[in-house]
Amino acid sequence: MARKVIIAGNWKMNKTASEGKALVEELKPLVSEVTEAEIVVCPTFTTISTVVEAAAGSNIKVGSQNIHWAESGAFTGEISAVMLKEAGVEYAIIGHSERRQYFGETDVTVNQRLKAALAANLIPIVCIGETLEEREGGKTEKVLFTQLEGGLADITAEQIGGIVIAYEPVWAIGTGKTATPEMAEETHNYIRCQLKDMFGDAAEAVRIQYGGSMKPENSAELVAQKNIDGGLIGGASLKAESFADLIKNAIA
Ligand code: PGA
Repeated sequence: MARKVIIAGNWKMNKTASEGKALVEELKPLVSEVTEAEIVVCPTFTTISTVVEAAAGSNIKVGSQNIHWAESGAFTGEISAVMLKEAGVEYAIIGHSERRQYFGETDVTVNQRLKAALAANLIPIVCIGETLEEREGGKTEKVLFTQLEGGLADITAEQIGGIVIAYEPVWAIGTGKTATPEMAEETHNYIRCQLKDMFGDAAEAVRIQYGGSMKPENSAELVAQKNIDGGLIGGASLKAESFADLIKNAIA
């Protein structure tokens, strides 16, 4: 099955609104001809509206880096799916390893956030991945299995095709260490097999992004793998030229 490549830039806690606007203005002409990939940028909450405005009419879509599970209420510091939707957001990153590591995100809250995203018609990007210690301890598959089972609890075969999974080995995030394409493909294949066990043939439609030090120099080789359908990009998405080159190389 042909799955459309999806490349998303996770800006993390970088770029003020004016810097985000400048980045998108610079990126727009560089990627205007790209039709083979879905392009998403995920700014901070305060930068979202400006970036939505700057990206309007272009092939660049906007996502959030997190989302709360309730529609509204006493959740100081949180933002709901309906609020993001109204602001022009179309995608939501959920369960990034930094949220898991620093903000107590669990598979249970990932699942709650995922359901809220689907209810609001946002396309969820659900992040999973093992730490270095877990990989070295031979626990990668067990960790991914648990994250998939918990994170995707109650999701149906009808819903799964609309969910993007981002496989991000924690040891490769921001470290410059990338999984080799073969190593990444082996893990992506494992993820696809698990999804097939859970959802049957519907799993073929799920796009699985790789994340962790993806850059213009390695995006082609990674995305060429059978089960790698794009990337979730941190560092290399913060400069228009490197993000555009990464995208173009990935689909070349
Ligand atoms: P990186 O981050 O590309 O800087 O390694 C990826 C991510 O955390 O999504």
